[in-house]
Amino acid sequence: MVHRSWMRNQGFGHEVFDGRPVIGIATSTSELTPCNAHLTRVAEAVKRGVWQAGGLPLQFPTMATGETLMRPTAMLYRNLMAMEVEELIRANPLDGVVLLSGCDKTTPAMLMGAASVDLPAVMVTGGPMLNGKYRGQDVGSGTQVWKFEEDLKTGRMTEEEYFFAEGCMARSNGHCMTMGTASTMACLAEALVMQLPESAAWTAVDSRRMEVAQAAGQRIVGMVEEELRPSQILTREAFENAIRVNAAIGGSTNAVIHLTAIAGRVGIELNLRDFDSLVRAVPTLVNLMPSGKYLMEDFCYAGGLPAVMAELHGGKLLHGGQITVTGRTIAENTENTERVDADVITRLDAPVQPAGTGIAVLRGNLCPDGAVIKQSAASPHLLTHRGPARVFDSPEADHEVADDPELDIDENTVIVIRNAGPKGYPGMPEVANVPLPGKLLKAGVTDMVRICDGRMSGTGYGTVVLHVAPEAAVGRPLALVRDGDPVVLDVPNRTLRLDVDDTELTRRRQARRAPAERHTSGYSWLYTQNVEQADQGADFGFLRGSRGHEVPRDSH
Ligand code: FES
Ligand code: MG
Repeated sequence: MVHRSWMRNQGFGHEVFDGRPVIGIATSTSELTPCNAHLTRVAEAVKRGVWQAGGLPLQFPTMATGETLMRPTAMLYRNLMAMEVEELIRANPLDGVVLLSGCDKTTPAMLMGAASVDLPAVMVTGGPMLNGKYRGQDVGSGTQVWKFEEDLKTGRMTEEEYFFAEGCMARSNGHCMTMGTASTMACLAEALVMQLPESAAWTAVDSRRMEVAQAAGQRIVGMVEEELRPSQILTREAFENAIRVNAAIGGSTNAVIHLTAIAGRVGIELNLRDFDSLVRAVPTLVNLMPSGKYLMEDFCYAGGLPAVMAELHGGKLLHGGQITVTGRTIAENTENTERVDADVITRLDAPVQPAGTGIAVLRGNLCPDGAVIKQSAASPHLLTHRGPARVFDSPEADHEVADDPELDIDENTVIVIRNAGPKGYPGMPEVANVPLPGKLLKAGVTDMVRICDGRMSGTGYGTVVLHVAPEAAVGRPLALVRDGDPVVLDVPNRTLRLDVDDTELTRRRQARRAPAERHTSGYSWLYTQNVEQADQGADFGFLRGSRGHEVPRDSH
């Protein structure tokens, strides 16, 4: 009774507590996470749907991990948010949950948490911003802002013009509208079939965003009745589908880490090799920035993710029998899909980029547990490269000297940024694509090989080797590189090597002193003690797996 009595203070009559499904709406709204700031409005639409289908909707806030404002990086808090989502869903008397998110880390955090509880769950992402429009040109969040920044730095753009351009870019509610990490994860939530078809692409301000939200509210009530749970939806086949979809959309490298972490929550081991081998036959079909030309609004009008999945399914590149949140299979969901614009979403036989040009996984003595490179964001002439290392022990160390006109770096140098991994930074920030040195930019150099144990923004570009595992902070082998060591990158053969002989590397390893532990209390201690390496998804080891929804004891 105590449960009902206090709920009555919100104006609910006693009759709504008649055993109908109680649906939680987990909302990561926050004004500190601009990409998620409108989610309370989306929640209203979800509520309508839940009422319509005969459920009781109850919205509750979760933390939000905003990409732009949080320090040292939103990634440090993804696992904390996932932990919070998990505990809130389990601790409250819910029968099902609708997950509302938008920014890069909020989507995987929601999925990770919900997967570990395994109550019926459906996701609704908040939708991208409208296309940026600047002086007659489409401008993408992220992608373009880095370019504007370089223009400002080199004097091609004034500060006043820069402010104007900024306003042209972020002109509506929603998350980044390039195929950065937010759009990627929204599409992959749809590819993992945890959100309804067409949900990823409607812009945040399109009335149809509210329609799909309402439909999700209706559907979750049905899912509760059918007992359709994440463990039935998040199967190995679903993850293989998502990995292929990520290749087809030209998605973010961050997806590698997030998908691995989500899979870990349902006991599925994704190996880095899967991300390379499964995509070798998948061309890039979606012509979106940063790899291509268009933005999410165009993607939406062109047919959105259903059109991509239909094309992949037609080419036998998806497991079509996978059950989805609709209660139907992927094959059934994609049956009558229309592709409206073949320039935005291409056909398999006339793709934007041929098969095998997406994410590649490298191995070698510099990255025994793997590293990742996004080939489509790289310069073709640098995909095989040999050059001397110039090592920076932190991204800040690079920033300090990057604009020094006397800097001892030329275009063949391989810039190594280390101690930016999960443990080392901590939180594995998006710092790998450090800007090129000012003197080289002025000389017209547009790209250089960079190697890092951190991540890169999904909207970043350049020949950047990321997620080097194990990271430098755990002692090897990125920690052993010295200035001038020859580094050999061979993407076609999937290798990254340090051309220094093993005895020398062993000598360096033995001489190395482990740095003192910097984090001795608080969340950063919990994080650095428990975070796994990038190739494992950078989740906490103790959060792997599902713990179910049963709570054996009561509070009163
Ligand atoms: Fe939140 Fe890009 S910063 S979606
Ligand atoms: Mg990002």
